[in-house]
Amino acid sequence: MFLKKNKFFSFNKISIKILLWYSVIFISNAIFLFLLAYFIISATLRDKESTSVSLEMEKILLDIQKYGVSNINKHISHKEKEEFFIVVVLKNKAIYVNDNVKNFKPISSIIEKSKISQNFFTIKANGKTFKFQAYKTQGYMVIAGKDVAGTEELLENFREIFFGMILFTMILGIIGGLIALRKILLPIKSITQTAQYIINTGKLNERIKVGNAQDEFYDLSVIINKMLDRIEVLVNTLKETIDNVAHDLRTPLTRIKITSELALSDQPKLNPKEALLSCLSESDKILTLLNAISDISQVETGSLKLNIKRIQLKKLIDDVIDLYDYVIEENEISLVVNCRDNIFINGDFNRLRQALSNLIDNAIKYNKPNGKISIKCPLINNKACLFISDTGIGISEKDLPYIFERLYRADKSRSKQGLGLGLSLVKAILKAHNAKIKVRSKLNCGSVFCIIFPD
Ligand SMILES: Nc1ncnc2c1ncn2[C@@H]1O[C@H](COP(=O)(O)OP(=O)(O)OP(=O)(O)O)[C@@H](O)[C@H]1O
Ligand SMILES: [Mg+2]
Repeated sequence: MFLKKNKFFSFNKISIKILLWYSVIFISNAIFLFLLAYFIISATLRDKESTSVSLEMEKILLDIQKYGVSNINKHISHKEKEEFFIVVVLKNKAIYVNDNVKNFKPISSIIEKSKISQNFFTIKANGKTFKFQAYKTQGYMVIAGKDVAGTEELLENFREIFFGMILFTMILGIIGGLIALRKILLPIKSITQTAQYIINTGKLNERIKVGNAQDEFYDLSVIINKMLDRIEVLVNTLKETIDNVAHDLRTPLTRIKITSELALSDQPKLNPKEALLSCLSESDKILTLLNAISDISQVETGSLKLNIKRIQLKKLIDDVIDLYDYVIEENEISLVVNCRDNIFINGDFNRLRQALSNLIDNAIKYNKPNGKISIKCPLINNKACLFISDTGIGISEKDLPYIFERLYRADKSRSKQGLGLGLSLVKAILKAHNAKIKVRSKLNCGSVFCIIFPD
């Protein structure tokens, strides 16, 4: 899938979703905290104002208790210079009105509002706010009030600051979120760019730049890089295999072509029977190569069905030796087999015979004249093992790690016929049986192949 745009932020990207969630949570948290602070502060300040009005009210009520309501205008202890607004109403007639009220509003409007209001009420006049409290009895009513413009102005300022702060917090939150996200999601960008580069160029050697932060993205990048290493090896192996197969097919096919041309020319240099026999032999080689490749693939992909049975190891060895008896004799090789009758393994007889045949074939093919082959099958740690040793040309240290790879052949063995597929098939068959194969070899001295079967 190709990425159309290379923009870091677009609406369907995870980054914008994270940013939106982050902003919503961050901003709503900030609004909640500011609102909480505003309500606590406003409640405290307004409560303070109410308390001061109530205290004044209590003072007047004490005076009334002491001197009687009708004498209050003479004995009121309220001081005119104080900021309070005081009205005492007796039988719907204001019997005491302090100077502050006289300059304020018609007394009748205050009295009317007091009659219908419960306890505290506010009046706005000249752009200011006043807080009043009314104490009503059957006979009289006391009204006390105060200019609370200072407090309201303070709260107004606070509200303005509050909205400013919310705006600032929003901008800060979004900018901070963008910067943080960019930093956090940078490795993802690097992963995307690397994948995009590999898709566009087909070059598998590109790797994600891994930073120093040992976080989850670091782990992800390292694991993807390892996966790319593996894919690169597999793709290169596949390319090499295709090259090698093409190379190995070319030789017999060219021979078939030349032989056929020679046989079909006007003055044939080969008689048809010889030509056909040669073509048959070459096509046999091609078939063997293709069958071996297909066998290895089937075993490796697990699509090959194994017919697992209890097998007597000695019987398996004898069966294979019967096949090679003639060749062993012809090559003047001495063979020693040392295997007890009571060693059994579980496996597919035909497939294991195929594997063992390849190992014995190599032991004969790469042996020296008058060489020796020894086959042993001891029990080691309760596991059946099979050793095939030869006194042949041996394998150099340089070649040893590669001999189980498809189509690999050591230079020294190129004089002998072969495709370089025998050991890869052996390994694949043994892997399907959960068995292991090991090799030890010394150049010009010989080799030992050891198979370890599972319990
Ligand atoms: N017993 C051995 N002694 C020396 N070299 C060996 C021995 N067995 C394997 N080799 C080396 O390992 C290479 C790979 O062996 P493998 O059996 O896969 O291929 P091959 O024998 O060349 O061809 P094929 O088995 O497909 O006909 C051989 O070419 C040879 O160089
Ligand atoms: Mg071989």
